[in-house]
Amino acid sequence: MSTPVIYNLGSLNLDRVFRVPHIASPGETLAASSLTTYPGGKGANQSVALARAGARVVHIGRIGADGQMLRERLAAEGVDVRHIVELPDTPTGQAIIQVDNEGQNSIVILAGANGEITPADVEAALADAPAGSWLLTQNETSSVGEAMQLAKQRGLKIAFNPAPADERVRSYPAELVDLWCLNETEHGRLHDLVPRKLSADQEVLLTRGAGGAALWRADGELHLPAEQVEVVDTTAAGDTFLGYYLAGLVAGLSAEERLARAIRAAAICVTRPGAMDSIPGTSEV
Ligand code: RIB
Repeated sequence: MSTPVIYNLGSLNLDRVFRVPHIASPGETLAASSLTTYPGGKGANQSVALARAGARVVHIGRIGADGQMLRERLAAEGVDVRHIVELPDTPTGQAIIQVDNEGQNSIVILAGANGEITPADVEAALADAPAGSWLLTQNETSSVGEAMQLAKQRGLKIAFNPAPADERVRSYPAELVDLWCLNETEHGRLHDLVPRKLSADQEVLLTRGAGGAALWRADGELHLPAEQVEVVDTTAAGDTFLGYYLAGLVAGLSAEERLARAIRAAAICVTRPGAMDSIPGTSEV
């Protein structure tokens, strides 16, 4: 039997990170101390976290001609990039990120090529999915709802990180999701979609930043605290957490082991700048 694969329909972004003394208020003009471009995108970060945690990952996405470094970077991490399509006339997705002195961030994204992914892209990638495989997706690309339907028809399980938590999420077939992963703000906006009565195979993960994380399952709840670390940049902490958690789930780790490992990986991530650059490998975790 071949190893299950995690098919990640996910964004690939160029992150323009401005270091600022505090997050700009409405109407305020603020001087940044630096501007750095990092490889990012929730989807791409999660693919890297999964690969670093030891999972088999196929990334489904689109980039422009300016995004080749993202594909090269994912390939170097061991992610299967054959389903990342390059568009000649559309820019790669972009993120404008402010990171303040406490390492907290504020992110604005522009979909670019991430908004051009079609259901046919997803169908092509899932054609030979081995048994036990998963579809992972966020809310930074087009075709999210269609991908969920296609994945379920092929017997895959679905992990969903509803970020950004905007109105589009309400049009997706939420009842098909097996693993939800969201932070407290997202949960506040979408709590009516997240199931309260869980089936034996369903799980809900709630991340609470410095407050740790909670796992809700049909057989009970698990809450683990965050680790106390020196925070430099929280960008991609949630992506690291989910990548490590899902890799642990697919590898058959116990609920407590995979949750603890995900929290540890996210704690290391926040001590370093950047998005996918800050994701630790298993030897560090
Ligand atoms: O989760 C962090 C990511 O959100 C950044 O890398 C940025 O690109 C946005 O997608």
